[in-house]
Formats: sequence, structure tokens, C-alpha cells
Amino acid sequence: MATDVITLITQDHRTVESIFDRLKTGQGDQKAAVAELHALLIAHARAEEDRVYPGLDAHHSVEEHKEAEILLDALVRAEPGTPEFRETLDELVASVGHHVQEEESTLLPALRQTADAKELDRLGKAFEQRRAEELKALSGSASGSPDGATKAELYEQAQQADIPGRSQMDKQELAQALKKAGS
Ligand SMILES: [Fe+2]
Repeated sequence: MATDVITLITQDHRTVESIFDRLKTGQGDQKAAVAELHALLIAHARAEEDRVYPGLDAHHSVEEHKEAEILLDALVRAEPGTPEFRETLDELVASVGHHVQEEESTLLPALRQTADAKELDRLGKAFEQRRAEELKALSGSASGSPDGATKAELYEQAQQADIPGRSQMDKQELAQALKKAGS
């Protein structure tokens, strides 16, 4: 499995986009998709800010994370299917899309220029560790489920295990797929 920070960050961006697609089409459990998006984006942003941005000139990106967090909170509060939900989602998609584009066209290429493979791996491990901590903290504050794991956590494990079709699965399907994969 890839551990370099550029691959890990880029993977998260693609996952975020696939959740946006689920929200835009209105298919599947919308509340669960919002919860998953919330956990992933917050954990991703914290890990970037703490482990990747120091050493890069990334003040602007920190501002953009703050803007995304405000929109995310509004999306969590909005009722799926309402105009308010749709408008907030559109704003969030535009905001995050712009940020992702900037990161992938400027920040990450700059990082690739300045850091060697070993450093990219070291940053990748630090990023992943910080991100996992944050996901754990976030799931602790979410409503507990009987078997202890939240959907976001299961999704996270499915991502690590590279389970195909994971973005379309509900919590139970994720749990079953993980069991089958032996993790
Ligand atoms: Fe990012």
C-alpha cells in the first residue's frame, strides 16, 4: 500500500468527490453520507494542517479549510432534500473543489519538488497517524453503534483493505465485506 503523502492526500480527495456524487444524486442514505463526509474532511484537513502544511506556504489553504468546516456544519444541520441542503451542498462542492484543485496543481507538486521519496513516506506516515487519531476522536463523539464501529470507521478500514465498491456500501455491507476480506 502506498504510504507517500501525495498519494494519500490525493486518495482522500477522490473519496470526497465520490461522496459528493452520492449527495448530488440523492441516492442512498444521505445522512450517513454527510456523516462520512464530515469525518473524512475534518480528519483530512487537521492532518494536513498539522503534519503537511508546516514547511509549505499554506496559510491560504488553512483559511479554505475553515470555510469548508463552516459549510460542513451547516450541511450536517440541514435536512436532506430541502433547498437549504442543496444550496449548502453546492457551496461546499465549489469550495472543496477549488481547494482540491489548488492543492493538486500547486501545493503537492511543490512538495514533490522539495521532498525526496523518503521524506514523502515519512510525511505520509505522520499524515495517516494524525488522520486516524482525528477519525477516532470524531467517532467517539458520534452516536454509538452496538458493535462499536461507526460507518466512517468501517469505511476507513475498507479503504485500507481496498475493498471494491466500498463507496456504494452501507454500514452492514461494509462490515460484511471486511469480515470476508479477513480484516
Ligand atoms: Fe486536501
